[in-house]
Amino acid sequence: MDRFINCDCIIRSDIMGFRIILLGPPGSGKGTQAEKLNDDLGLIRLSTGDMLREAVRDKTALGMMAKEYMDKGALVPDDVVIGLMREKITSLKEGFVLDGFPRTVQQADALSEFVDIDHVINLDVDDEELVSRLTKRRSCPDCNVVFHLLYKPPMKDGICDKCGAALYQRSDDTEGTVRERLKVYRENTFPLIEYYDKKGKLVDIDGSGDINEIYEAIEASL
Ligand code: AP5
Repeated sequence: MDRFINCDCIIRSDIMGFRIILLGPPGSGKGTQAEKLNDDLGLIRLSTGDMLREAVRDKTALGMMAKEYMDKGALVPDDVVIGLMREKITSLKEGFVLDGFPRTVQQADALSEFVDIDHVINLDVDDEELVSRLTKRRSCPDCNVVFHLLYKPPMKDGICDKCGAALYQRSDDTEGTVRERLKVYRENTFPLIEYYDKKGKLVDIDGSGDINEIYEAIEASL
């Protein structure tokens, strides 16, 4: 294994160029773990959800169209998301972690045409735990870091630890919409577990329990 010393810690330099997909249902911790992979290893985090929410906030044509789907907990059409990600991914030279893409077999097939993926991490969490996590999540609109009122509270109530912006609750984090998102996940995204398993790229990680221990399990699997 290729290692080098950086400050007082040992970093695996082989991981830093990896192209990783984080799979898992809504609330399984994809964003939380992608943020840690970015902080620790410098992997660029590409979140389709964050990109679409930014477009909604900026009231772009993409945002106005995507909002209709996102508010209902439905998926934005494949061709739109594929176009967005193709442009982002093909312009990258560094390693990256995909959070929320691909989400359908059509998106996975398209992705395979423009990049080779090294690892696919599947985070597995029980449905009732997911509902509890999402309805108590608070998100930063500026740097996209996520908090949880019980499990990962911000140091100062309602304020992002990282950038100081006021936290908000996502409009799709109500119980009804979360349950719809879980249904959409089972129908459209769950088949990707078998899809990547057949390609020999899938690693299953238990996504319940301590955030840092889950991160360690992910890093050890790479
Ligand atoms: P997106 O933003 O991707 O939402 P999602 O997949 O539903 O995932 P979430 O962001 O809700 O959860 P997460 O797994 O990142 O969990 P997190 O780390 O935040 O997509 C939103 C919408 O955009 C979609 O519904 C769709 O409309 C559209 N869209 C996006 N991508 C698309 C695509 N490819 N194709 C088509 N449409 C697309 O954690 C959740 C909470 O739990 C947080 O509060 C966190 O602090 C807490 N937490 C995390 N880990 C733990 C732990 N181990 N223990 C306790 N709490 C924890």
